[in-house]
Amino acid sequence: MPNLLAGKNALVLGVANRWSLAYAIAAAFVREGASLTLTYQGDRQRQTVEELAANLKASKVVSCDVTKPEELENLVSGLKESAPRLDVMVHSIAYANREDLSRAFVETSRDGFLLAQEVSAYSLVAVARAVSPLMANGGSILTLTYLGSTRVVQNYNVMGVAKASLEACVRYLASDLGMHGIRVNAISAGPVKTASARGIKDFSKVLEGVASIAPLRRNTDPAEVGDAAVFLASDLSRGVTGNILYVDSGFQIMGLGLGA
Ligand SMILES: NC(=O)c1ccc[n+]([C@@H]2O[C@H](COP(=O)([O-])OP(=O)(O)OC[C@H]3O[C@@H](n4cnc5c(N)ncnc54)[C@H](O)[C@@H]3O)[C@@H](O)[C@H]2O)c1
Repeated sequence: MPNLLAGKNALVLGVANRWSLAYAIAAAFVREGASLTLTYQGDRQRQTVEELAANLKASKVVSCDVTKPEELENLVSGLKESAPRLDVMVHSIAYANREDLSRAFVETSRDGFLLAQEVSAYSLVAVARAVSPLMANGGSILTLTYLGSTRVVQNYNVMGVAKASLEACVRYLASDLGMHGIRVNAISAGPVKTASARGIKDFSKVLEGVASIAPLRRNTDPAEVGDAAVFLASDLSRGVTGNILYVDSGFQIMGLGLGA
C-alpha cells in the first residue's frame, strides 16, 4: 500500500504513549507519506509525545487540552503558519471519571456526565469547527468510538452515552461539512489495552470475551485501526461520510456467542 497519503497534511490529537490508538494511526499515516502534526495534553505528556513525534518525524508537536479554548485557538493559528492547508484531522480523545467506569450507571453524577460529554463528544465539534476552514481542498475528519454507544457493555457506562453522542455528532458534522468536501467518519475499534481502557473495571474480561466470541476469534490489533484510518483519510474513501466503520474482529455482529 505505497504512499496513499502522499502530499497530505494530517493533524492527530490523542497520542499519550506508544500504546495509544492515535499512535498506531499516526505511524500508519507516516508510512503512507503524510506530514504529521501531533498534540499532547498538558506538560506531563509533553516529553513522551515529543519523543514519539521524533520517531515518526512529525513536523510539529503542540499542546492542546480540548477543554481549554485558548489552546485550540493557538493550535489552529500555529497550523495556519506552518502548513496552511490541512487534509486530515484525527480526534482520538476521551475521558470519564474512573468511579463512573466502575459502579452502576444509575449512580453517574451530573458533573461526571457533563465531563464525559465535553471531552469525549463536544470536543469533536469544537475541533472540527476550528480546523475545517484550513481544509480548503476538502478533507477527512476521523474519530474513535466503541460498541458501548449502542449496546450495554458492563462498566462502560457514562462513556457509552458519550460515544452515542459522539456518533450522532459524526452524522451532523458530515451533513454540515459535506458541501465543503469535508468527510466525517468514525472507527469503532474493538477493545485494546491502552491507558484509557485500563480505567474501565474488569477490562481484561472484555478482552477475553471478545477473543472467544468474535468471528475472527482474536482481539483488535492497533495496526488494524491504523490501516482503516489510512483508508478513511485517503482518497480511496472519497464517497464515504457519516459512517461508523467497525474494526473489531467482527464482534459487533454477534448475538449470543458461546465461545471457541
Ligand atoms: N482502547 C480501546 O479499547 C478503545 C476502543 C474503542 C475506542 N477507543 C477510543 O479511542 C480513543 C483513544 O483512546 P485510547 O484507547 O488510544 O487511549 P489513550 O489513553 O492512549 O488515549 C486517550 C487520549 O485522550 C486524551 N485526552 C483526554 N482528555 C483530554 C483533554 N481534555 N484534552 C486533550 N486530550 C485529552 C489523552 O491525553 C489521551 O491521549 C478514545 O476516544 C477511546 O474512547 C478505545
